[in-house]
Amino acid sequence: MICLGIETTAHTFGCGIITDSGQVLANVKDMYTLEEGGMIPDKVAEHHRTVADKVVADAMDTAGMTWKEIGLISFSNGPGLSPALLAGMAKAKELAKLHKKPLIGINHCVAHLTIGELMTKTKDPLYLYVSGVNTQVIARAGGKFRVFGETLDVGLGNILDKFGRMAGLGFPAGPKIEELAKKGQYIELPYTVKGMDVSFSGMLTKAEQLFKKGTAVEDLCRSLQETAFAMLCEVAERAMAHVGKKDLILIGGVAANKRLSEMLSIMCEERNAKFYPAPMQYCGDQGAMIAWQGILQYNAGERMNVDDIDIRPYERTDEVDVTWVEDYS
Ligand code: ATP
Ligand code: FE2
Repeated sequence: MICLGIETTAHTFGCGIITDSGQVLANVKDMYTLEEGGMIPDKVAEHHRTVADKVVADAMDTAGMTWKEIGLISFSNGPGLSPALLAGMAKAKELAKLHKKPLIGINHCVAHLTIGELMTKTKDPLYLYVSGVNTQVIARAGGKFRVFGETLDVGLGNILDKFGRMAGLGFPAGPKIEELAKKGQYIELPYTVKGMDVSFSGMLTKAEQLFKKGTAVEDLCRSLQETAFAMLCEVAERAMAHVGKKDLILIGGVAANKRLSEMLSIMCEERNAKFYPAPMQYCGDQGAMIAWQGILQYNAGERMNVDDIDIRPYERTDEVDVTWVEDYS
């Protein structure tokens, strides 16, 4: 079976097409970007409505598909910005009705985890999920994804974006910060780990103060990365020891950062564990992960009535039943 998945929880309108053996036939996206300022939800939704038809058509072209060959449509119905979610749901329902296809609404964060697992060929790893909104250490236990540790304030991607906004680096700031960090010197910033949780706002506040006092932006980028990534290494290591997992996978938009992968791979090597960064094109938001999650749930027997599906802006990863795994109980 082939599934077409639509992603619109945040900045990206994505459309992916995947087979039930996990072969990605298309993964097209159009991201809302800004030179300065933050995301305004209504503007993001407007962006998604504007690009939707083109992105879906491009994905169908890339995959060389006709609608007859598509067996299922899935879309991310949460968590995320309500206006953006509504734009995605409207398009997904329109397509499902027009082409008479079953429709499944799935959790975006869970899709980040399962595409990571598919692409790294791991089974039941520890997941370090670092995106704009989320920073979580997750493992599967008792039929759910359990969050063993997380940020106590803001997700790391959003912290980097906040710093970027203040320093005029544009949005999203993560890639720019990674480049600038290569030329910077390390300065000590507040480091906050509590058990398996982390907190980034102290680090950000200090970096902002130093920036205003004239500290070079390259030095601050380097220091933000080194400090935050060291915190992530510490909690990932603690969680692996605690839950007894030997494989670590890194997913979410911040996983695109090479320095983060480097630090995690050193940590894993030192404790005889294996580190698997998800391939870059599957780290950030895209439609292939939504399509894959649709297949998993559909093949596990889940069915939804198109008119009953609604958005779930606040659904947490640990609320979803992992019905598609054999030892689910
Ligand atoms: P969530 O998936 O939790 O809903 P999201 O959809 O906003 O959050 P993603 O698309 O997974 O997040 O990730 C976007 C974030 O990744 C942005 O904050 C961006 O700055 C960050 N990012 C992207 N590339 C890099 C990089 N090379 N280094 C650090 N951060 C990066
Ligand atoms: Fe995401």
